[in-house]
Amino acid sequence: MSSKAIQDVVICLKDVNVVYGNLAALYEVNVDIYKGDFLGICGPNGSGKTTLLKTIMGLLKPLTGQVALFGNKVEDKIPKETKFKFGYVPQISDIDRNFPALVKDVVEMGRYAKAGIGKSLTKEDKQKALDALKLVEMDHMLERPIGHLSGGQQQRVLIAQALAAEAEVLLLDEFTSALDFKMTEEVMELLDYLNHTHGITVVTVGHNLGLLRAYCSRIICIDKIIAYDGTPKDPELDVVINQIFH
Ligand SMILES: Nc1ncnc2c1ncn2[C@@H]1O[C@H](COP(=O)(O)OP(=O)(O)OP(=O)(O)O)[C@@H](O)[C@H]1O
Ligand SMILES: [Mg+2]
Repeated sequence: MSSKAIQDVVICLKDVNVVYGNLAALYEVNVDIYKGDFLGICGPNGSGKTTLLKTIMGLLKPLTGQVALFGNKVEDKIPKETKFKFGYVPQISDIDRNFPALVKDVVEMGRYAKAGIGKSLTKEDKQKALDALKLVEMDHMLERPIGHLSGGQQQRVLIAQALAAEAEVLLLDEFTSALDFKMTEEVMELLDYLNHTHGITVVTVGHNLGLLRAYCSRIICIDKIIAYDGTPKDPELDVVINQIFH
């Protein structure tokens, strides 16, 4: 990874320590995530995966160390344009089945976030929302209530919402946990397509190691520290997995 240029670093964590009270959740974490990475983050329960994503999104402040997004330090004020480059895709279990919004409303929310709440959407905004839905192949369902969709379809709509806001980096936390294997594979295929053909950087936390290794170009294993950071095929990864999962 050292051959990549510094200007391609989209997320940089330097000597990051995160604590909850007196519990150390992340210890001396150093990670550079590059434009175009398809990164899978794995680790046992409680190893700090969600903490890492929250720290990247600025929801948690490190005790020590620095986080920079596109070269902007999080401790300084991150410019609005930089914030919009990051799309957090929540777990679908967070969606209420009776939530009355239609698919197109959910995706247009991505445009509202960018235009500013309370502003009305322009024709261009609506077109961008539709383009995002087309990209995830959900434009045929735009009038359907989001709660009536399958888990995999909802996940696609949430990815479209992030893309409608013109996110360049998608951060996903355990999106697979509410999906069956086929749906999970289909969403991974979509992420792979967005990564390869649209240059979207993907950072996904997951428990299914086989799937992460099949799709991701880079794997990070975390156990408070970064226990592994490299390619999915390196035999060293098996050694680390055996150590931290047993
Ligand atoms: N808000 C909090 N307050 C106190 N401790 C917390 C809090 N959130 C997480 N922790 C603790 O920090 C550690 C890391 O938690 P984190 O949620 O980052 O793990 P994770 O790797 O995402 O786990 P999982 O695989 O179960 O989602 C755990 O020991 C957890 O109990
Ligand atoms: Mg978690």
